[in-house]
Amino acid sequence: MCFVTRRALDMTSAKIHRAVLVLLLLSPISGLLAQGPVATIRRQLAGDAAIERKINALLAKMTLAEKLGQLQQLDGEASGKYRPEHLVLAKKGLLGSTLNVRGAEQSNELQRAAVEQSRLKIPILFGFDVIHGYRTIFPIPLGESASWDLASIEKSAYIAAKEARAAGVHWTFAPMVDIARDPRWGRISEGAGEDTYLASLIAFARVRGFQGSDFSANDRVMACAKHFAAYGAAEGGRDYNTTDLSERTLREVYFPPFKATIDAGVGSYMTSFNSLNGIPSTANPFLWKKVLRGEWKFDGLVVTDYTAVMELMKHGVASDEADAARLALNTGIDLEMVSRLINAHGERLLKDKKISIATLDNAVGNVLRVKFRLGLFAKPYADANREKAAVFNAEHRKFARESAIKSFVLLKNEKETLPISKQTKEIAVIGFLANDKRNMNGNWSGDGRSEDPVTLLEGIRRKLGNSAKIEFAVGCDTKCEDTSGFKQAVEIAKGADFVVLTVGEDIDMSAEAASRSNIDLPGKQLNLVKKIHAAGKPYVVVLMNGRPLTINWPAENSPAILETWFAGTEAGNAIADVLFGDANPGGKLPVTFPRSIGQIPLYYNALPTGRPFESTNKYTSKYLDIPNTALFPFGYGLSYTTFKITNLKVNTTKLTKKDTLKVWVDVENTGKREGTEIVQVYVHDLAASISRPVKELKGFERVLLKAGEKRSVEIQIKIADLGFYDANNQYIVEDGQFRIFAGANSDDVRDDLIEFITVGK
Ligand code: BGC
Repeated sequence: MCFVTRRALDMTSAKIHRAVLVLLLLSPISGLLAQGPVATIRRQLAGDAAIERKINALLAKMTLAEKLGQLQQLDGEASGKYRPEHLVLAKKGLLGSTLNVRGAEQSNELQRAAVEQSRLKIPILFGFDVIHGYRTIFPIPLGESASWDLASIEKSAYIAAKEARAAGVHWTFAPMVDIARDPRWGRISEGAGEDTYLASLIAFARVRGFQGSDFSANDRVMACAKHFAAYGAAEGGRDYNTTDLSERTLREVYFPPFKATIDAGVGSYMTSFNSLNGIPSTANPFLWKKVLRGEWKFDGLVVTDYTAVMELMKHGVASDEADAARLALNTGIDLEMVSRLINAHGERLLKDKKISIATLDNAVGNVLRVKFRLGLFAKPYADANREKAAVFNAEHRKFARESAIKSFVLLKNEKETLPISKQTKEIAVIGFLANDKRNMNGNWSGDGRSEDPVTLLEGIRRKLGNSAKIEFAVGCDTKCEDTSGFKQAVEIAKGADFVVLTVGEDIDMSAEAASRSNIDLPGKQLNLVKKIHAAGKPYVVVLMNGRPLTINWPAENSPAILETWFAGTEAGNAIADVLFGDANPGGKLPVTFPRSIGQIPLYYNALPTGRPFESTNKYTSKYLDIPNTALFPFGYGLSYTTFKITNLKVNTTKLTKKDTLKVWVDVENTGKREGTEIVQVYVHDLAASISRPVKELKGFERVLLKAGEKRSVEIQIKIADLGFYDANNQYIVEDGQFRIFAGANSDDVRDDLIEFITVGK
C-alpha cells in the first residue's frame, strides 16, 4: 500500500485509518467478500485530512449552544413532517439531526432553514428506520435472512438506500445485527437470526448495500450498526430487559456481526436499551471506548437509542438528568436521540468540569465528520424528480417479488401436496392474514403504505384469473378470540378442491416491545387449523409471522407448511408463485423452531454437556416430557425437488494455522424440477482448552440445479477462522483435531459426510 498523501494527514486520523486498513486486510470477511472496503478507506484517507481541517475550522467558530445543537436529534411526525419547533431551531443552527422527517419536500424545507438561514450553514442530518425497504418493502430481515443469498440481501438494501436518499434521507438506523437465540424476544424479526457466522456475512452485505463504497453517492445512505450490544440476549426474552454475558461469549457470539459492519465501512453505531453486566449500554465504556473506538478504531458517529440517555436514571446509574448527560458524554456517545439532556445540561457540566471541552468537541467532530462524509455540505438537498422516479418503481417491485420468493421456507410437503395444480377448479382461501394488506409490510416498514402490498388472496386471483372459483373466509382474526367465523371457513373448505389456510401473528406481535411468553399460534388459531384439517381436503398452512412459532400439531398432522414471514410489498404475488409452482422454495431457517417454550434458549451451536443424552441412561441431559431436539432445526428447509449430497472430500487432513481447507461435496438434484439447495459445512473442535460448540457453521453455498443435474461444490474454510476466545479473552487457534461435516441443515449429519482434520505445526 502506498499512501502519497499520508504525510499531509492529521496524525490521529492517519493512525486510525492505518489501523482500520490493517484490520480490513486481516479480516476474514473482507477477504471473502470484496476488495471494496479497502478502496473506500483509501478514498477516505485522501479525503479525511481535508475533512479534519474543515471540522477544526468549524469547531473554532461554533458557540457552545451551536455545538450542543449538533449533538441533538429530534423526532419528526410519524407522517414524515418536521415539527414547527424544528424550523425555529434549524434557523438558529441548533438542530443537528432529525429522525422520521422524510420526503424531498419536507426535508428540503427544513434543510433550507439550516443551510441558508443559520449562521454557520451546517446541514441537518436526516435519519430514518429504513430497515427492509423505504417505500418498496422487502421481507422482514429475519425472513430475508432465510434466503442465505448475500447478493440478494445486498441488493434489497441498495434499493432501499436508493429510494430513501432520493426522498431526502441520509442515514438509516440499520442493520440490526443483534444475535437472537430467544424467539420470545419480538425483535428477533429485525435481525439475521441465531448464527454468528451467517449473521456476520449478512451484516456485511446489508452495510454494503446501504452504503456502497462511498455513502456520499446520491443512491446510498449511511448505515448504522445497532444495537451495541447484546440486546438480543434480554433475560426471559422480555424486551429492554437486562443482559448478563461473559466477555468471551460477547466476543465470540455477539460481537462478530458488529465487527463485520466495521469491515464493511459502516458509518455509525447505535447504543442499546439494555444494561450489559450491570452497566447500561449508553453508559458502558467497555463497549464504546475499549472495543469500538479502541480495538476497532471506529471514527464514525455514535447515536443513542430513543431516549436512552434519559433512561440512565431509570436504570439506576444516574442520579439526575445532568448526571445522565455526563455519563453518556464521558462514555463516548455523540448524538442524543429525542431526550435533550446533553443539550439542557452541557453548559453546566462544562462549568462544573464534569465534562471537558475536548470530550464535547470530539462528539461534535464525530457528527460533523459524517455530515462531510455524506457530502451534505456540498449537496444538502434532495431532488424531487429523482424521488418520483426512484420510489416504488416497477423495477424495485419486481425485485421485491424475487427476494420474497427466496425468503420462503418449505417446512413440510407430504406426498407432494404442493405445488397446487393450476387446473384446480375450486380453491378456498382462509384466514385473516390472506386478505390483509397492512400486515404484509411487516413491522418497521419505512415509508411503506398499508395500501401498497399485494395480499395472498389478490395474488391467487391474479394468478388463476377466471379459471378457478376462489372463495375466501376470514375464519378469525390474528388474536382469534372470536371463533364465530369458523363455521363459514369450514363450509367453503368442504366445498373446495384445495384449501390455502393462512395463520400466524399480527405484525404488532413481533418487533419492538412485542415479546411473547407463549409462541404458539395466537388465540384459537390452532383450532381453526384442526377444523380445516377435519374438513378432509388437501390443504397448505401458510405461516405469516415475525419469529419462530411452536407449531407441533401442524408439523405432525398438516400435509404442507410454507413459512412466509412478512414478505413485503409483493407478498401475495410471491406466495402465489410458490404455491402454484411458478417458483420453487429454497430458503433455510436462520433460526431454530423449538418444540416448546420450555426449551428456550435452543440453538444449534450449543456447547456439549458432560452427560449428552442417551435413551438408555436416566442420568443424561434431557427433559422428561419432550425430546431435546428442535421441531425444525437451524438451516432446515425443503424444496419441490429433492437433493442428494454425497462424496465429501478435503484437500488435505493435515493443516497449519495459516492454511485454507478446501471441502468438496457433490450435490445432485434427484427430483423432477429445477431447485436451489443450500449446502452447509459445519465444524466441531473435538478437544480444546475451552469447551467448543457441538457444531458451528463455517461455510455454505447456494446451488441452483436443473432436474437430474449434479455438481461438485467447493467450500473454503480458513483455519484462522476456527479459533476462539480463550480464558483471557484472547483470540487463539489451537492445534488439534476437528470434525468437518456437510449437510442440508444443522441436524443432517450423516456418517458418509464426515472428515477429520488435524491442525498443527
Ligand atoms: C429502536 C431503534 C430505532 C429507534 C428510532 C428505537 O425505539 O430501538 O431500533 O432505530 O427507535 O426509531
